[in-house]
Amino acid sequence: MSNVDEYYTEILRLVKQAGSIVREKIYQHKDVLTKSCDVDLVTEWDQKVEKLLIDGISSRYPDHRFIGEESTSSGQKIELTNAPTWIIDPIDGTMNFVHGLPYICISVALLINKITEIGIVYNPILEQLFTARKGQGAFLNGAPIHVSNEKELHKALVMLETGTSRDPEKLKIVLQNITLLLPHVHGIRSFGAAALNMCMVALGGVDASIEFGIHAWDVAAGDLIVREAGGVSIDPAGGPFDVMSRRTLCASSMELAQQLSKILIQYYPVRD
Ligand code: IPD
Repeated sequence: MSNVDEYYTEILRLVKQAGSIVREKIYQHKDVLTKSCDVDLVTEWDQKVEKLLIDGISSRYPDHRFIGEESTSSGQKIELTNAPTWIIDPIDGTMNFVHGLPYICISVALLINKITEIGIVYNPILEQLFTARKGQGAFLNGAPIHVSNEKELHKALVMLETGTSRDPEKLKIVLQNITLLLPHVHGIRSFGAAALNMCMVALGGVDASIEFGIHAWDVAAGDLIVREAGGVSIDPAGGPFDVMSRRTLCASSMELAQQLSKILIQYYPVRD
């Protein structure tokens, strides 16, 4: 058993344990706090799930590092080094969780030497476990998945999130992008959990997913799952994907990704 095999077994066990908490709490009353603005939400369960995952890994692998949504929410700059680093979103789709909308997931990626080795996205409400290991394909509940292979923009179903920022400049660009894209595609969807949106591309349920302003924890696992499912994950301006850039465009084919990138008005948030 390689080290990564062992890490994978351990994180799957912890993610399933965390999933039981999320499943139990989703339809109960929650106290809700806000972070960067009034619609950037957090609950005690986001914090508890993140702690469970970090404590579980660090007790076995004390030299591993973490970039977790809730442990970095106090605003300190995050740093990605070559050390084995777990990038964690304990509940992606916190607003859905608060409302009891079962489109939420736990998203965890392991990067070693800045290369993603493991990606796990788990929706414990709908029992959808998306997994990928570098070079070994992508799976939903153990069965292989593949992107749609769609290449034509006018047949594409596209996920485009508005995000949680209410910065007027960003909102203006998001709305312009919806107006620009809509006449050229089959449709636009916005379900509220970036990691799951990427898994929907991996599954072939949508053909692309785009967002400006997400963080590393929203996209690190989804990036590997999409690529292992035969799709592409790039920067929305057409260059290589950068997990710290807070910009994502993934698609069923490079042809589709490049057509989308040519239409989009670009937005460059402050990097993670
Ligand atoms: C959010 C979700 C949402 C996206 C936001 C993210 P969180 O993550 O992924 O879909 O639009 O940009 O912040 O805060 O629920 O983990």
